[in-house]
Amino acid sequence: MNNHAVITTKGVTKRFGDFTAVNQVDFELKEKETLGIIGPNGAGKTTFINLISGFYLPDEGQVLFNGVDITRLSSAQRVALGISRTFQLVHVFDNLNVYENLGLSYYRKRENKPFTFRMFTSRLWQSDIRRKVEEYLKMMDIAHLKDEIVGNLPLGSKKRLEIAMAFVSEPQVIVLDEPFSGLGDQEIDEVVGVLKKFSHDKTLLLIEHKVSKLEDFVDRLAVMHEGEIICCGPCESTLNDPEVRRCYWKLNT
Ligand SMILES: Nc1ncnc2c1ncn2[C@@H]1O[C@H](COP(=O)(O)OP(=O)(O)OP(=O)(O)O)[C@@H](O)[C@H]1O
Ligand SMILES: [Mg+2]
Repeated sequence: MNNHAVITTKGVTKRFGDFTAVNQVDFELKEKETLGIIGPNGAGKTTFINLISGFYLPDEGQVLFNGVDITRLSSAQRVALGISRTFQLVHVFDNLNVYENLGLSYYRKRENKPFTFRMFTSRLWQSDIRRKVEEYLKMMDIAHLKDEIVGNLPLGSKKRLEIAMAFVSEPQVIVLDEPFSGLGDQEIDEVVGVLKKFSHDKTLLLIEHKVSKLEDFVDRLAVMHEGEIICCGPCESTLNDPEVRRCYWKLNT
């Protein structure tokens, strides 16, 4: 894929005290590709995407977005530029319904400013917001759940809602931290189904523990081990890489 790099990291490093969680990582995420990062518990995957999305500032190195240095920008500033993410444990408002959660996400991104709850509920039914929310409810196969209180939903539906919330503001890049964690096989297939609708239209970066869930739809696969990306390339070549075989398979068989 010859597309330009949307996200670039140059030597990014994050330490917690004496421990180096992410160590001198050089990485490129290309426009409209779907890239998976696998790696064992504690490899530094979540820390790495926290550096990309601005939840942590690196101790060393740079993060670029379309070639522009964003290393010092906050997560809110990065969302405004077009970098959206989901979390390993779902982040949704359990006491609101599905429509309200999605409407809130869209409204917040569009207005790009803090909101009061009253402002939100009064504007939520504006026709432009309604059109967008209904479009994404359909795309994520959760239209039938729109009036359900989110706290009552099974995890698979919550995950699809959270993914919808990341996509509805139409960012350029979406970073998903373990979108399949805690889901059963059928729920995983449903989430994969909605992600496939967006792959090659959006730029996607996914973190996952197990390669089997990613193999059939990522363009490139990276392996993280002890804070470093030890290999990144087409799935087959990554999985046959000698260092990956030594470090990753040993730990996962
Ligand atoms: N806020 C923190 N303070 C101290 N140590 C941390 C912090 N966040 C992460 N770590 C440590 O950094 C290492 C990498 O953690 P990280 O959460 O990035 O791993 P991960 O690859 O996402 O793992 P998992 O697959 O379990 O989600 C771990 O050893 C973890 O204990
Ligand atoms: Mg993690």
